Amino acid sequence: MTAKIISGTEVARQIREEILTEVKALEKMYNKTPGLVTILVGENPASVSYVTGKQKTAKELGFHSIQDNQPMDISEEDLLNLIEKYNNDDSINGILVQLPLPKHINETKVLYAINPDKDVDAFHPVNVGRLVIGEGVFLPCTPAGIQELLVRGGVETSGAHVVVVGRSNIVGKPIANIMLQKDKGANSTVTVVHTGTKDIAKYTRMADILIVAAGRPNYITADMVKEGAAVIDVGVNRIGTTPEGKAKLAGDVDFENVKEKAGIITPVPGGVGPMTITMLMKNTLAAFKLSVNK
Ligand code: GUN
Repeated sequence: MTAKIISGTEVARQIREEILTEVKALEKMYNKTPGLVTILVGENPASVSYVTGKQKTAKELGFHSIQDNQPMDISEEDLLNLIEKYNNDDSINGILVQLPLPKHINETKVLYAINPDKDVDAFHPVNVGRLVIGEGVFLPCTPAGIQELLVRGGVETSGAHVVVVGRSNIVGKPIANIMLQKDKGANSTVTVVHTGTKDIAKYTRMADILIVAAGRPNYITADMVKEGAAVIDVGVNRIGTTPEGKAKLAGDVDFENVKEKAGIITPVPGGVGPMTITMLMKNTLAAFKLSVNK
């Protein structure tokens, strides 16, 4: 079997069109558009690239968007004060602090300082808790993008065995919680495997849907995958530089071999990556709607 390849680039384009239509309609009604601030501390090249992509997309969708760059040596107190300023700014519906932060700043303290109703990353414990009990207002962007890819890729999730590789707070734990909800696009049986698991392949081979966020290039080989499985590759591993000087990326899945066995597979790049930014826009739109309906 050769897998159907789900293009995250294409699905993300469709969703952005839907968002743009809604933003235009809301602008007519309220004379304003969703506001997003992305706060970047320092100049980590990967973070600069992510934040630039987020701002570019926000502008394309007609959002009111602000890029707030802060120096590497900003104090924790000044950063907390900056967040408070945006918490109190009615033109801003979504606040995103790009991670990682420099070592002298307590990341948890910073994430807790964001008003949960403006927490478009959904990293605040209030939003994590809402997700676990099935009352999520915002879903974290990468897991939400994975769920959309499954739904729009026509994958049956209800009753499926989902195996998640990796237990990070950003991907593994939230996608496991999303997929076990008694909801459309979910209602799955979920197994999470991680570095403490004995014989990971034993579980991955049982997966109808395999979601891989291990952070190890080409880690999932064809012998670890069930024939016809849906394979979602969340890995973004920089494995060198192209002749044009761009970062060369590899996923966590050995794409060339696994695509001969899987039923559906996402590529890297062009799979989950483009969905993450789009779901951030969807969350910012949701935050805007929350604020105008208050
Ligand atoms: N750094 C890497 N991924 C993310 C993300 O999804 N949100 C934020 N804020 N920082 C990140």
